[in-house]
Amino acid sequence: MAIRSPIVNVMGNAALKAARGLIRDFGEVEQLQVSIKGVGEFVSTADLRAERTLKAELKKARPGYAMLFEESGSETGSDPRHRWIVDPLDGTTNFLHGIPHFAISIALERDGEIVAGVIYEPIRDEMYWAEKGAGAYVNDRRLRVSARRQLAEALIGTGMPYGDRADNQAYIPTLTAVMAATSGVRRLGSAALDLAYVAAGRYDGFWEFGLAPWDIAAGILLVREAGGYVSDMAGAHDMMTSGDVLAANAHLHLPLAALLKEGVRGRRASS
Ligand code: IPD
Ligand code: CA
Ligand code: CA
Repeated sequence: MAIRSPIVNVMGNAALKAARGLIRDFGEVEQLQVSIKGVGEFVSTADLRAERTLKAELKKARPGYAMLFEESGSETGSDPRHRWIVDPLDGTTNFLHGIPHFAISIALERDGEIVAGVIYEPIRDEMYWAEKGAGAYVNDRRLRVSARRQLAEALIGTGMPYGDRADNQAYIPTLTAVMAATSGVRRLGSAALDLAYVAAGRYDGFWEFGLAPWDIAAGILLVREAGGYVSDMAGAHDMMTSGDVLAANAHLHLPLAALLKEGVRGRRASS
């Protein structure tokens, strides 16, 4: 039986409370109770409501901690050594389209280092959590990254740039390279869950460019505590600044990094 520390309980309970509202609102979207025209606004209200609940719960438990929330930005606290990094709804596009794949992501940073993370997936009631040095879990089950060693057998998750990030010239060549070398690529639409899936050994690896700190903070800890590696595409570790993330099991991290690099190089050579 996995014993959750008091701080992980605080994070998990905050997520459960916010998830109740999200599930209710998702039900409305699913049953098309919301007019197509109003659905965007409805979802952003749901998102904001989840953020308010999370903020209130985390503040109640640890009043002085600093905060970085996706929707309301940053707040300094009386205890700036600690900071919550929160995405109240990761997978908004899925939510908006009635696709049941989205999550709440909460990370706790201490002195600039992520020490605890919770990713909660309300529809499947999967609570992913990790604490530095204590391992990664889903509900009460310990997580380990996959043991696959061959790229040809690997299933890899990704996030495709869209909107004002769609002109990211680096992406398509990396996709082409990974498609050709692996047993498949998935784009499920929640970066937090993508990282949780690497931790759970469902995906053998994951890459995406230009993510925000709230998309990845909790997931990075989950992958590491499950025995996986996380870096940017070049093997450096400033993912929280660059937003570029490559996560994989220990066997496939280097081969995948080489593949992504090759993809980008191939594009340069042919242009
Ligand atoms: C998005 C999701 C998506 C990723 C995007 C993120 P949001 O977060 O994580 O998978 O590809 O880059 O912005 O907007 O649903 O919170
Ligand atoms: Ca997000
Ligand atoms: Ca979000």
